[in-house]
Amino acid sequence: MAKIVNSWNDFDPLKHVIVGLADHSCIPPEEPATSEKVPIDSEMRGMWGPRPLETVEKANAQLDNLAKVLGENGVTVDRPSPLQWNAPVITPDFRTDSMMTCMPPRDTLLTIGPEIIEAAMSFRCRFWEYLAFRPLLNRYFNEDPEFIWTQAPRPRLTDISYKHNYYDERISLEERLERTANKDFVTTEEEILFDAADVLRIGKDLFIQHGLTTNRKAMEWFKRRYPDLRIHAVNFPGDPYPIHIDATFVTLRPGLIINNPQRRLPEDQRKIFEANDWQIVDAAQPAHKNPPPLCYSSVWLSMNCLVLDHKTVICEASEVNQMEQMDKLGMNVIPVPFRDAYPFGGALHCATADVYREGGCEDYFP
Ligand code: NVA
Repeated sequence: MAKIVNSWNDFDPLKHVIVGLADHSCIPPEEPATSEKVPIDSEMRGMWGPRPLETVEKANAQLDNLAKVLGENGVTVDRPSPLQWNAPVITPDFRTDSMMTCMPPRDTLLTIGPEIIEAAMSFRCRFWEYLAFRPLLNRYFNEDPEFIWTQAPRPRLTDISYKHNYYDERISLEERLERTANKDFVTTEEEILFDAADVLRIGKDLFIQHGLTTNRKAMEWFKRRYPDLRIHAVNFPGDPYPIHIDATFVTLRPGLIINNPQRRLPEDQRKIFEANDWQIVDAAQPAHKNPPPLCYSSVWLSMNCLVLDHKTVICEASEVNQMEQMDKLGMNVIPVPFRDAYPFGGALHCATADVYREGGCEDYFP
C-alpha cells in the first residue's frame, strides 16, 4: 500500500497527474446557463453535437504528447475512461440531449491534500462527467489507505438553480462587466455549485472565484467542510465571462503570481498577498488575437500553464510572450504544442488534474 494522492498547491514538484482525453467529445446543446457563458460573437452559438473527428484526433495527439513529455520529466500520468458523450442526460429534474467531454479534468476534480473531490458542477451536460474518472479514483482508493474520496453534494440543477431572465443578446459588454462587478451571475444561491477550476489552492488558503460556475453557497460549503483551511472569495471585475480562475490568476511558485492584466484582482483583495510579500505581476500578452475555432475560452489560455516545480513550467509552444516572461521570472520553460486541444476545454492546466505533488499544507499567509 502506497501513498498516491497528495497535493496542496499548483507549484510544488509534480509527480503524478491525470491528463484528459478528447474521445467522443461533443458541443453540448443549449441549456439554462450556457448562453450566458458562450461569448456573444462565438461561432459556436446554436451549434451542438459530436465534434469533428479530425479535431478530436488532433487534440488527442497533443494530449498524448503532453503525457509523454510529463513522463520524460518524471511525472506518472493516468488517463480517464471517456464515456459515449453523445447521449442525453436524464434525471427526475431535467433532460438535456448530450454530454460534453472529459478533456478538462481540472474542472471536475479538486485535490486538497490526500483528498480528491468530485465537484458540484453547474452545467447539466457535465452531470455525469466524474464517471470518466471513477476507475482511477477507485484504484487510488484500493491502493492508497489514506486517500479520501469525496463527492460534493450533488446539485439537482432544476430550473430554480438559474436566473432565467439573466441573458439577453442585447446586453452590451459594459452591462456585462457591470454585472460582474456587482457579482450578479446566472446561477442562483439555491444549491451548492462549483467547478473545481474556480479554486486556487495555496496550502492552507483556498482562493475561490465567485462567477458564472461557482456561487457563494459553495464557499460556505468549503468553509464548513474544511474548518482548518481559510476560504477567500475572489472576483475579477474585468472579466465579462468569469469561468475558472486559471486563465486569470496563476501561481508560479511561493510568493509569485501572474494576473491577467484585463482581470486584475481588486485592491481590497490584494491586501493578503501584499501583507505576506507575495508579488502579483501582470501576465504577458497572448501571442494570438483569437482562440482556435470552436473554442469556449479566451486567448488568455496563454497563461494557463502547468508548473512542474518552483523552477520549471510547461507553456504552450506558440505563446512566445508568455514563455519570454517565464524566462525573465526565472522559470525554465518546456514548450509543448497544445492549441489543437484548446477547443476541448482549455490549455495545459485545464487539461490536467493533480494526483501527487511533493510538499505539505504550508501556511503562506499567516
Ligand atoms: N474562462 C477563461 C478560461 C479559463 C481556463 C477564459 O476564457 O479566459
